[in-house]
Amino acid sequence: MSQTNMDRQQGSEILKICTNIIGARDEYTQGHSHHVYVVTEAIFEAGHFPIDREKLAHAALLHDIGKILVPENVLNKDCSLSDEEWEIIRQHPVSGCNLLQGTMFEDIGDWILYHHERMDGKGYHGLSGDGIPLASRIIAVADTFSALRTYRAYRPAKSIQDTIRILKEAAGTQLDANVVQTLLSYDEDFLEALECNCEICKRRKEAEHEKALSEKINLQSLPLYR
Ligand SMILES: [Fe+2]
Ligand SMILES: [Fe+2]
Repeated sequence: MSQTNMDRQQGSEILKICTNIIGARDEYTQGHSHHVYVVTEAIFEAGHFPIDREKLAHAALLHDIGKILVPENVLNKDCSLSDEEWEIIRQHPVSGCNLLQGTMFEDIGDWILYHHERMDGKGYHGLSGDGIPLASRIIAVADTFSALRTYRAYRPAKSIQDTIRILKEAAGTQLDANVVQTLLSYDEDFLEALECNCEICKRRKEAEHEKALSEKINLQSLPLYR
């Protein structure tokens, strides 16, 4: 095996360990990270962005790795967060970037550091427009799409129609309009199928399906006339 292939194989094993650590800490973030990776790949495929695909994939999978340093009671809190708790959450891109220093993933540190920037400069570090690395702008769109399409303890997932509408509204202010347009160049059926397959989302979907089924059975069992 050549040195490059060995490095690559070792890299993907290390990446797996990192995502498993994320999952051991927080099941939601692991599923979400994989979902962001899948959506990022779709954006890359449609947009042919001048960016290293493999590095972009690594950054998508590791973008929230800093959350392993966020205390569990803050990370999984259902109700609204205090200012102090928000400040802790806002540290996760910095923590993520720091965790990668001195490793083979060091060069994607900045992409992770800036994944919560906004086009209008109102993000975590105040970078705006093209000043935000392209990879971070791509991950931000995939991240938003994933967040909207994922079930959380405090709210259900958004429909694909609502997700498309919200992404269009955020284009230009929060998100890079060109990247949003690239993702939305896929048809609605494709976008709907780009779902999160984490255990939490699967369980919620099954529960919803069973509920809809039992409602249907109840309706069918009603007499047609009295
Ligand atoms: Fe994040
Ligand atoms: Fe995220």
